[in-house]
Amino acid sequence: MRRGLLIFLLINFVILSFLVHRVWILLTLLFVDGAEDAITRAELPALGTGRDDSTSQIIPRIIHQTYKNASIPPAWQEAQASCIALHPQSEGWEYKLWTDEMGLGLIQQEYPWFHDTYVNYPYPIERADAIRYFVLAHYGGVYIDLDDGCQRSLEPLLKYPAFVRRTIPTGISNDVMGAVPRHPFFVRVTEKIKEYDRNWILPYITVMGSTGPLFLSVMWRRWSSDGHNTGDGKDGGRIRLIFPEEYNGFPWSFFTHHKGDSWHRWDVRLIFWLSRHWILVTILGFVVGFSVLFVGWWVYRRLVSGGGGSPRKGMALFTGFKLPFWRRAGAYNEYELVDRHEV
Ligand SMILES: *[C@@H]1O[C@H](CO)[C@@H](O)[C@H](O)[C@H]1NC(C)=O
Repeated sequence: MRRGLLIFLLINFVILSFLVHRVWILLTLLFVDGAEDAITRAELPALGTGRDDSTSQIIPRIIHQTYKNASIPPAWQEAQASCIALHPQSEGWEYKLWTDEMGLGLIQQEYPWFHDTYVNYPYPIERADAIRYFVLAHYGGVYIDLDDGCQRSLEPLLKYPAFVRRTIPTGISNDVMGAVPRHPFFVRVTEKIKEYDRNWILPYITVMGSTGPLFLSVMWRRWSSDGHNTGDGKDGGRIRLIFPEEYNGFPWSFFTHHKGDSWHRWDVRLIFWLSRHWILVTILGFVVGFSVLFVGWWVYRRLVSGGGGSPRKGMALFTGFKLPFWRRAGAYNEYELVDRHEV
């Protein structure tokens, strides 16, 4: 009996270690803050000092945005106009609005190996997520979500090889990103994105994890843990971070956030509800965890210690069990309106 318990605990320990190992990168997201890569206010030129030292600019002066076609909804027109106004052609800026058709063209022409994955993503927002990485990897420049307006010139950010936006409490976002053309991080992201095309049952998690901010955050942690996030200058793989104060809400922030017609589907509402009731969720987690342990112990005893039924009977527990897996291709075409700034 004693030995049985020991073996049982050992098996659990092995399973737990395996699970922790599998999600290790996700766990590091919880405690890595990236402050050492922050673009601090001190290193940015003070507001109103005009165009600073433009000789250090390495990111090309291109603003990329995406929408399904050229008719931008009224809710975002003001944001779009603010970015165009602050980055005029007369100062060497180019503005590119990537429609679905143009995005598909780029993939067909430059990344044909990605075409099938790209057109088969079940949610349109996955294509919108993916295309921005390919555009940045190919052309370089600054990608800005349509619901982000500009509050000051992005010129000071062009001297870093790559930057993304840090989100609190965890990870990075893909709503504002800048890079030199062929930046190794974004090249890596484009090379890996196919591998991450998985169905995580809940649409929201599927989108976040295969192409969205969660996918990008995992790539970013891997990039750092592979030792790339060091060194600077033109060839540096280091990725600098815009923290919340530089992002929006202050006079010196680069962006302003414009709410679109954001509405939430059931799974998004569920996730927000869970995050609001995290204490309850934690307690439930423990209850479920201990129940699993208890059931595991019970099954183990029946199988190994011969506590009654034959082992075969115990196995039946597993064979009749199927995961409720499904895929809803094509449904819900309005995913792009989901507001990620709240998570
Ligand atoms: C763009 O898409 C919207 C909504 O799907 C549609 O109403 C509009 O006519 C389209 N505009 C163009 C220029 O195709």
